[in-house]
Amino acid sequence: MFDFKYFAPTKVLFGKNTEDKVAELIKEFGGSKVLIHYGGGSVIRSGLMDKVKAQLEAAGIKYVMLGGAVPNPHLQLVYEGIELCKKENVDFLLAVGGGSAIDSAKAIGYGLANGGDVWDFYDGKRKAEGSMPLGVILTLAATGSEMSDSSVITKEEGLIKRGYSSDFGRAKFAIMNPELTMTLPDYQTACGCTDIMMHTMERYFTNGGNMEITDSMAEALLRTVKKNSIILRDDPKNYDARAEVMWAGSLSHNGLTGCGNDGGDWMTHKLEHELGGLFDVAHGAGLAAIWGSWARYVYKDCLPRFKRYALNVMEVENKGTDEEIALAGIEAMEDFYRSINMPTNLRELGITATDEDLVTMARKCAVGVGGGKGSAKFLKEEDMLAIYRAAM
Ligand code: NZQ
Ligand code: ZN
Repeated sequence: MFDFKYFAPTKVLFGKNTEDKVAELIKEFGGSKVLIHYGGGSVIRSGLMDKVKAQLEAAGIKYVMLGGAVPNPHLQLVYEGIELCKKENVDFLLAVGGGSAIDSAKAIGYGLANGGDVWDFYDGKRKAEGSMPLGVILTLAATGSEMSDSSVITKEEGLIKRGYSSDFGRAKFAIMNPELTMTLPDYQTACGCTDIMMHTMERYFTNGGNMEITDSMAEALLRTVKKNSIILRDDPKNYDARAEVMWAGSLSHNGLTGCGNDGGDWMTHKLEHELGGLFDVAHGAGLAAIWGSWARYVYKDCLPRFKRYALNVMEVENKGTDEEIALAGIEAMEDFYRSINMPTNLRELGITATDEDLVTMARKCAVGVGGGKGSAKFLKEEDMLAIYRAAM
């Protein structure tokens, strides 16, 4: 077991109509002029934005609005947000939406509090020394950004998608009303469930340390999301299933399921980020498309974990050699992805990548991780390329 830091300072209001508390929470955290940041308009169409604006107006909180955060959010809008906030003397950021709106708001916050070019943080050139306070109203259970220290931004020039993690980026509060996720298309719900499971799986498939309580929580979380994603496939308006998935999303990426190990593997995410950057795919679908190829490439180097996963999460029969059980677990996971209409390779993901594209992605991925990365198995550029090729 490794020493660890656990820091999850976000105040969570969970349940029906919790968005009615937004003005109260902004005041609690000292906000007087707010930037409301959102995506392509789903929060306007659902009526949520009108509710939020009415709350702020009734409480005498001034606000400006900036929409347009696209999936795989762009750096250019972050720059725009920074300038708008300076001009309008904004002192609090409110992200209303999914991971893209939240991540874009986090980047705006870094830009405002630190000056200079905000891309430096994503490019690994500087570390943030603060951020502007951020609150979140979550409409998509997926990334865990509402409680995580991460933000992922795509620089349009060169289509470079990079993450930056800092405790300064953690939201002051997160409002989570599972009902707000009921307007999601089925595909986005499934992408979200995939991403949630992956955030725990990245931490679980490790050769660096373990802790029984962490592993048990991780397995329970994975079983819960697996079960409830099937319920939501058949009954998208099921409140309890929405709630289970939403809370799992936050716990999966706030650090809880990594306490006591070496931080995990994270290579499926790194490989996906290149796909998202180059082909603009939905993050969860990209993860599902790459995971099986990654797993088959690395499982022998992390056999005890893959066996345990097969037995305790995928509930395969305890029969055969460890290797056979591990492989049966990988197959069962791919069957699960198919059952919720997620892709299990790049063709099913709908992209037609040339071998040159795969070479480019492997190179960019290797650069992005400083040469190599991975705990289940340490991967270098040639390994990354082999996994991309296997995923075609
Ligand atoms: O843009 P709008 O119109 O709001 O529509 C969005 C978007 O089209 C829609 N949507 C969201 N809530 C909805 C809804 N549609 C109907 N009803 C609702 N209630 O869903 C689409 C996807 O939204 P997006 O925010 O892009 O999805 P997600 O939450 O999956 O975020 C993906 C981004 O987060 C990054 C990903 O790489 C990707 O860029 N990640 C962020 C992480 C973090 N900050 O900790 C960790 C993750 O691993 C991930 O990398
Ligand atoms: Zn993710």
